[in-house]
Amino acid sequence: MDIYTCIAKRRDTRHFTNEPVPEEILNKAIMAAHHGPSVGLTEPWRFVRVKSEEKREQIKNLFTKASKEAEKSVIEPKTKEKYKSLKLEAILDAPIGLAIFCDHGVLDDFTIGTIGNANTLEWSCACAIQNMWLSLTAEGFGAGWVSIMDYEAFADILEIPKNWKPLGYFCIGKPATDYDGEPMLQNENWKKRSKKPLIIEV
Ligand SMILES: Cc1cc2nc3c(=O)[nH]c(=O)nc-3n(C[C@H](O)[C@H](O)[C@H](O)COP(=O)(O)O)c2cc1C
Repeated sequence: MDIYTCIAKRRDTRHFTNEPVPEEILNKAIMAAHHGPSVGLTEPWRFVRVKSEEKREQIKNLFTKASKEAEKSVIEPKTKEKYKSLKLEAILDAPIGLAIFCDHGVLDDFTIGTIGNANTLEWSCACAIQNMWLSLTAEGFGAGWVSIMDYEAFADILEIPKNWKPLGYFCIGKPATDYDGEPMLQNENWKKRSKKPLIIEV
């Protein structure tokens, strides 16, 4: 698969088969993440494999709570019903659960590129995450990013160091659908992807 096909095929997946993910595929994806660019070569990404069913259930509960809160802010009844019908996670069904964090502890006296903007650490992690996502896609697997949750409670459940900032929980497995080759939210008539990005010349 060439890189443009892989970019186009990558989907945020919320529907998985039961097929296990070989360790080799997961390791390849994490190494792809690790080859991402990082500000000042800080490599701030941290990965936590969530194998415990109990912790997965606790994380699912965080999602359910946050999603119910989000529901309250949707005023229009039809839109509210539609929101409720969307599957926005696969925490208990995906064969692999991976939490990803940004370690702010990598900052030292002088870290290139971080003066005045500590967000660059998180941007580095986002680059790593995209590499992981593309690697999984290239191998015929997929991932779904779950961000709808209280991140402080999420960090508490996983008992990670204080300066690791949560970026999300990733459901990883074999996609059960490709949503007809478009984002699931478009496929579900929630929102349409724009044809082109906005580019301004100055
Ligand atoms: C930072 C981030 C957080 C996201 N959080 C969620 C989430 O909690 N639940 C969900 O279903 N999708 C989540 N998504 C997926 C987006 O909805 C998805 O990327 C978008 O609809 C485009 O679809 P595509 O990734 O399949 O192209 C998230 C994506 C990003 C980049």
